[in-house]
Amino acid sequence: MSLSLIAKSIGESATLKLNEVAAILRAKGDPVIHLGGGEPKGKAPLDAILAATSLVNSGEVRYTPPDGIPALKQAIIRYTEDFYGWRPAPENVMASGGAKQAIMSALHTILDPQEEVIFPAPYWVSYPEMVKLVGAVPVPVEPEDGSFIPRIQDIEQVVGSYTKAVILNSPNNPSGAVYPAEFIKDVVELCEKRGLYLIMDDIYHRLIYDGRKPINPYDFAKDRTDNSKLIIINGVSKQYAMTGFRIGWAVANTRLIEVMTNIQGHETSGPSAVLQHAAAAAINGVQSSVDSLCTTLENNRNVLIEQLRSFDGVRLEEPGGTFYSFPDFSHYDKNSVRLSEFLLEKVQVVTVPGIEFGKEGHLRLSFCGSIKDITDGIERIKWTLDPNAPNELYIGERKLVRDWS
Ligand SMILES: Cc1ncc(COP(=O)(O)O)c(C=O)c1O
Repeated sequence: MSLSLIAKSIGESATLKLNEVAAILRAKGDPVIHLGGGEPKGKAPLDAILAATSLVNSGEVRYTPPDGIPALKQAIIRYTEDFYGWRPAPENVMASGGAKQAIMSALHTILDPQEEVIFPAPYWVSYPEMVKLVGAVPVPVEPEDGSFIPRIQDIEQVVGSYTKAVILNSPNNPSGAVYPAEFIKDVVELCEKRGLYLIMDDIYHRLIYDGRKPINPYDFAKDRTDNSKLIIINGVSKQYAMTGFRIGWAVANTRLIEVMTNIQGHETSGPSAVLQHAAAAAINGVQSSVDSLCTTLENNRNVLIEQLRSFDGVRLEEPGGTFYSFPDFSHYDKNSVRLSEFLLEKVQVVTVPGIEFGKEGHLRLSFCGSIKDITDGIERIKWTLDPNAPNELYIGERKLVRDWS
């Protein structure tokens, strides 16, 4: 079949694929534990549900302005004022079908073919594919010291004449690392100096622990005019446990938002009216669900860390945010795909291979599930990999006997 070169270069989303695998195994009755997930398990806020059902019940569900309904844009404006200390105009805001679509529209708007986009590794699985989708070139940079915290020198080294943008995602998927304010400051300054766009993917910025506060890139920006090349991406998926609602947004300069809106207008006409109402209600509503989500996730993280610390051979950098950890399992197998498949086959634990995030030898383990999933999941992994573990493991009634070394 004849397909475009770009289309042929795009891989499947490993994380979405694994959700499917987990669902199929569960439907078959397998006692699968999904440590590969990317969404909080709680319910969407009641305010959001009531707003969505009320619009559906009215029966009048119409097209909306392509950049979003005024109520949602106002909610995003207030959110930006609260978390970023400046009040954008409505012309600086575009609502979209998830943060994913906001990033895609931004890339479509700023990139010409062959231009380069730099982002630190490990990185979110979609960045390379999104950049390739617009015909541009992804440039992942791995911190030289092998840690999850990039240094400004790592970025500077790869900036060249084709560089058009940098993407930062902190707290980071998959490592959970929270980049230091100093590093973000340096990148903001570098981008301003070199005339580069800086896309801040802040989708996890409120999911941070140990008393940290979200870092605001505008604090370091000298250019506070409407020519700023800073693009803020966020959404309701993670912080409000509303992944299926598919609402995200971008805040950027007027001209960018205008062009992004033109693109979105032709591609989708904008996100669903029902879901926009729900998102506005979540942002404007009682925020206690975000606080309790953070408390739950911090506790889950602590349990996961404790479990992993008792695991000889696994090295872990403590996640400071998100609901992901990214331990190094290379002592057991340097090939993360093979290791992930082995764990799924032997003990039905779903993990995401590190190579999908640009770092081999690691597995991404999520802590957004239940404490029981975390403890049982790690226990199963440990049993599978630790040669000193007892020979048998019970999963419910099922007895597993280790026949590998
Ligand atoms: C780093 C990062 N950015 C963006 C997204 C997409 O979020 P949304 O559900 O709003 O499209 C995700 C989802 O996993 C993510 O991990």
